[in-house]
Amino acid sequence: MADTDVPELPGSDLRWRVAGHPDDVWFWKSGGVSIANIGTMLSIAGKSFTDYSRALEFGCGCGRMLLHLEDVGAKVELHGVDIDAEAIAWAQAHIPWVRCAVNDGLPPLAFPDAHFDLVFNQSVFTHLDEQYQDAWLAELRRIVKPGGDLVLSVSGEHPFSQLLQAHREAGADPGPLLEAYRTRGIVFVEDDGWKGGPFPDFYHSTFHAPWYVFEHWSRYFDIKAYVVRGSLDFQDYLLLRRPEGDLPPLPASAPPVPARAPGALRKLPRRLWRELKYRVRGR
Ligand SMILES: C[S@@+](CC[C@H](N)C(=O)[O-])C[C@H]1O[C@@H](n2cnc3c(N)ncnc32)[C@H](O)[C@@H]1O
Repeated sequence: MADTDVPELPGSDLRWRVAGHPDDVWFWKSGGVSIANIGTMLSIAGKSFTDYSRALEFGCGCGRMLLHLEDVGAKVELHGVDIDAEAIAWAQAHIPWVRCAVNDGLPPLAFPDAHFDLVFNQSVFTHLDEQYQDAWLAELRRIVKPGGDLVLSVSGEHPFSQLLQAHREAGADPGPLLEAYRTRGIVFVEDDGWKGGPFPDFYHSTFHAPWYVFEHWSRYFDIKAYVVRGSLDFQDYLLLRRPEGDLPPLPASAPPVPARAPGALRKLPRRLWRELKYRVRGR
């Protein structure tokens, strides 16, 4: 890429891990778009990045978005965490305006209660099953101050419709998948393109119905906004606010087991799974 304003970027393997493809132009430009997308979400709360004092990107990878926050980092204490030790090592060495750390697949994070007034991410809950999600929603609630904000993405109806289309193109019946999405509201596909890849066994592909997010995530946070395709024109973005008080106990009716995709889905080609991560748009 011949642009003198572009800083040193991570290598193709690290770019592939966060994007599903190694394109350097997409990696750089999409990071700027993602930061603008988060700015749009914060503006719904009448705020911008610099209205916060301490912010965390949860699941920052090698810093696709954090690379674009140098000016913000001069005013806001920025942190990034991820389970990917190589990605974090790169970010630590190349993004001096962010404090980076490796975390385990499940909580806790090494931060005190109410430490942050902003937590953001892109495409992390899109890879966790319901049990992991619940654990992390509770942990993010713990580390965010009452009144603090979160911007988190989910793979909603648009990525799900592309999954259905891919399913049809592969000659499979999308009926069971649709049924699971409609009735359960969350579909976690274990046997996807990430199987046998660089991430731990728990990392796969998750699709959320908006109604599920409103019903389930509102146990942890006040939902201030749900913007369809607000993230890279592909995933949906949520603006959440941490309420006062302790986390109320989950209702007894909460289903104890994670939703799984029907077995037929597992036959989709790996390429399709990677494409379902994001669509690479015209450059
Ligand atoms: C699709 S990538 C997105 C990375 C980054 N947010 C971006 O948009 O460029 C998903 C990231 O989530 C990270 N991740 C998955 N499970 C995690 C967990 N339990 N805690 C922290 N990070 C996690 C992965 O290592 C990976 O870097």
